[in-house]
Amino acid sequence: MPMDEAPMMGLASLTPDRGAAPEATSDPRVAAILREAIEALGESDREVINLRHVGGLSFKQMADALDEPLGTLLTATAPGRVELARAALALLALWALALARRPGLALAFAAAALAASGATGHAAAIHPTWSVPAKAIHVAAVAVWLGGLAVLFATARAGDDFRGLAMRVSSLSLAAVVVLTVTGVLQTLLFVPGLGLLVCCAYGAVILAKLVGLGALVAIGARNRIRLVPGLPAEGTRAALRRAVAWELVVMTMVLLAAGLLAYAPVPRPDLHPGAHATHMEMN
Ligand code: HEM
Repeated sequence: MPMDEAPMMGLASLTPDRGAAPEATSDPRVAAILREAIEALGESDREVINLRHVGGLSFKQMADALDEPLGTLLTATAPGRVELARAALALLALWALALARRPGLALAFAAAALAASGATGHAAAIHPTWSVPAKAIHVAAVAVWLGGLAVLFATARAGDDFRGLAMRVSSLSLAAVVVLTVTGVLQTLLFVPGLGLLVCCAYGAVILAKLVGLGALVAIGARNRIRLVPGLPAEGTRAALRRAVAWELVVMTMVLLAAGLLAYAPVPRPDLHPGAHATHMEMN
């Protein structure tokens, strides 16, 4: 069903031909940005946004309003297709690992799911040529680091050549830190046009919180490598390393939660925070 026939009040308020968006916000600058962004969308994406965010419909109601099966609706937009592909690949990885017992295949599916993750969220919309690969590499580095820590924690009580394993995980983690810092900084530069904007908004605050978390993780990891790993396989050192790795996993979980928030926080824009941008200009 075309947009105009959808049984919703005000649904068309965001379509470009109707002058668009002032009802969505009282701030004229936000309305202008919204109008610009919505005009840049394809018709099907615009229709879905109208139904979902202006009309407030559930996906089932949207499918009914558009007279389309729910599956068709989910595959109607590019972001919907990427999300579906990502979820399917993650499920296939789980299947390959847990049921088919083929770790190589599971790794391939998981890597493809991580690559698809790069094309979701802000990265898909802002400088995608750089930010999509940067985000895919960023999350892959996180996965390598987290996976290494999980293996270390699981095998700390028993397991042969634990010292060799700990050294390998430590080296891998170090490489992951470098990669995720470079790709994290790159994404920040692409999404946040000015240092001043880092301290004015929730988005910047979450990035700074992630940096603090990263600092804590690096400190724990350095202590493990310099003080604990050389003392292995002594029983006391093994237990101390397991405790330290448990703390790393706790901090890592908090940083991951922060990363989840980041994906939903609006990216700061200089036209909405002119003061913060000026601070940046003065700094330069
Ligand atoms: C232990 C450290 C880190 C972890 C575990 C981590 C994890 C993640 C994850 C999982 C995402 C994807 C979020 C999503 O779209 O669902 C992400 C995105 C991102 N990360 Fe990190 N990250 C870390 C460090 C950093 C650092 C140090 C920076 C910056 C200096 C950074 C900046 C970013 C940015 C800008 C994004 C994109 C968020 C968006 O879509 O707007 N990250 N991070």
